[in-house]
Amino acid sequence: MGSPVVLGIESSCDETGAGLVRDGRLLGHALASSMDAHARFGGVVPEIAARAHLHALTPVVREALAGAGLTTADIGAVAVTTGPGLSGALQVGLAGAKGLAYALGVPLYGVHHLAGHVAADTLEHGPLPDPCMVLIVSGGHTSLLLVRDLARDPITHLGDTLDDAAGECFDKVARVFGLPYPGGPAIDRTAREGDPRAVPFPRPLTTGPPENRFTFSFSGLKTAAARWAERHHGAGLPLPLADGAASLQEAVADVLTRKAVAACAEHGVRTLVVVGGVAANSRVRSLAEERCAAAGITLRVPPLRLCTDNGAMIAAIGDLLVRAGAEPAPLDVSIDPSAPLTYAALHPVAAGARTGHPPAGSWAQRSAGAASHSRRAALASPL
Ligand code: KG4
Ligand code: ZN
Repeated sequence: MGSPVVLGIESSCDETGAGLVRDGRLLGHALASSMDAHARFGGVVPEIAARAHLHALTPVVREALAGAGLTTADIGAVAVTTGPGLSGALQVGLAGAKGLAYALGVPLYGVHHLAGHVAADTLEHGPLPDPCMVLIVSGGHTSLLLVRDLARDPITHLGDTLDDAAGECFDKVARVFGLPYPGGPAIDRTAREGDPRAVPFPRPLTTGPPENRFTFSFSGLKTAAARWAERHHGAGLPLPLADGAASLQEAVADVLTRKAVAACAEHGVRTLVVVGGVAANSRVRSLAEERCAAAGITLRVPPLRLCTDNGAMIAAIGDLLVRAGAEPAPLDVSIDPSAPLTYAALHPVAAGARTGHPPAGSWAQRSAGAASHSRRAALASPL
């Protein structure tokens, strides 16, 4: 028997995603975004995001299945983001995933959102080499990771950001520049007409003590960009937006790629994988290509549609876990909004949740016992 079709569900922030993966192959995926509903607030409003997930989850799963030419009966396992992310948003995805897994009598796997970002690349470029260097750059995280077997081994953090993530820096500066939310793509677009050497923005933590060589910091850069904008406003001068955006983007891309290539060299790693929303940035991509080529490093970056949050990446990491024989989540698996990335599987249990509850068995054992009930529930399922 081949490996099962894994349904992946993502709901950690403002994208509701569903993806279907089997044996490393993407069969179909669908995405709904509540981004527009947040735009006028200049950032994601957690309550709005959670409510939007509630509305979007069933249609998105249905659309992914239709795109793949499958039905719920074809789903052999469900993977869902259990953290990190917005609490209410994660809860909606987990509740939906639990309902489906229980109704279908299939195992459930809780996964770490960032491991999903890493796994996204395997859908395009095949299995990851062991070891590989991963630069993960999103709206909430910026880390350099040494990855062995993503589904089995602990993940080594060589460095993380001390303050803001790279995407957060783009988002916050875009706001100061008067650009729309989300800021990263707006900065990228605006930068096209600008001169990246126009403003000498700092390159934080590229000099100084060696223990900081793989550590990031973007809040100083954010402040420098805000001060630059304020100086223009104060003097009543028009803001040379394109130059500011291009210079900021250059500073971020320079720091990210310089540290990533240095980490590969120091650890003798021949492959760099750049993932997360900021991997969609055109300058991050081109500078990474340039520097990796010069250093003889193979660069892997997922296609644009798989860089930002989506359900395919969660299905991809779920599929890797299933094929690695990982233990499914217990029935009382919960969420962890600030889970550190140590393993791809993430099965938190709420404190005190087990008091007075039946002992937690594995999802597969429990749902096997509920098989007839499951089939009935599956028939009644709205999907
Ligand atoms: O991975 P992601 O979709 O969500 C998180 O897990 O955070 O990343 C979102 C981040 C946002 O900060 C967004 O501004 C940034 O990725 N981003 C970009 C681009 N596209 C998305 N940043 C720079 N250039 C882009 N083209
Ligand atoms: Zn993400």
